[in-house]
Amino acid sequence: MSNADGRLRVAMIGHAFMGRAHSQAWRVAPRFFDLPREPVMQVLVGRSPDRAEEAARQLGWAEAQTDWRAVLERDDVDLVDICTPGDTHAEIAVAALEAGKHVLVEKPMANTLDQAERMTRAAERAAARQVWSMVGFTYRRVPAVALAQRLVAEGRIGEVRQVRCQYLQDWLADEQAPGS
Ligand SMILES: NC(=O)c1ccc[n+]([C@@H]2O[C@H](COP(=O)([O-])OP(=O)(O)OC[C@H]3O[C@@H](n4cnc5c(N)ncnc54)[C@H](O)[C@@H]3O)[C@@H](O)[C@H]2O)c1
Repeated sequence: MSNADGRLRVAMIGHAFMGRAHSQAWRVAPRFFDLPREPVMQVLVGRSPDRAEEAARQLGWAEAQTDWRAVLERDDVDLVDICTPGDTHAEIAVAALEAGKHVLVEKPMANTLDQAERMTRAAERAAARQVWSMVGFTYRRVPAVALAQRLVAEGRIGEVRQVRCQYLQDWLADEQAPGS
């Protein structure tokens, strides 16, 4: 679903840590990739009007709102990008899909199996209406990861019996850092 001129009008809900990262991605993606649709940073949604206004201005969104439900009723929104804490993902995603909006939900998809299953059922119903959804796994499009996925999918390395991964980060190297 997109509007007549082929643009993809985005509403992003949540504008703090991951909202900033997603804003950067929406800004630069069409400058780097040939996209089938031009993303339009239509509306940013937060909880405080002042902070949402300030974030919209700084991050490059056309306007700010504080009620995500109202945004789902708008005709000028094609896709909802969910960057809120995990306990809100299921409610927003299911409502957005039922309103006919494509959904990009930041990982982890949900906090419970029940939430994830409700979201999956809503996504399957939506897909039958050509309304698409995706979980934003950070490394999904990294070339090396995409190549590994393709090698497995094409059967080039045979049946996978064991996977051993390492994920290297230094942000908890400080022994005084609080556990997470
Ligand atoms: N991919 C990654 O590497 C990565 C890293 C950190 C966090 N995350 C995930 O990203 C998501 C967001 O995490 P974060 O660290 O950005 O959280 P955060 O606390 O920094 O930001 C949450 C944002 O959601 C907004 N929000 C909360 N409830 C809202 C509501 N009802 N209506 C409108 N806005 C609402 C808050 O105002 C805030 O702007 C979580 O699912 C988290 O697990 C992913």
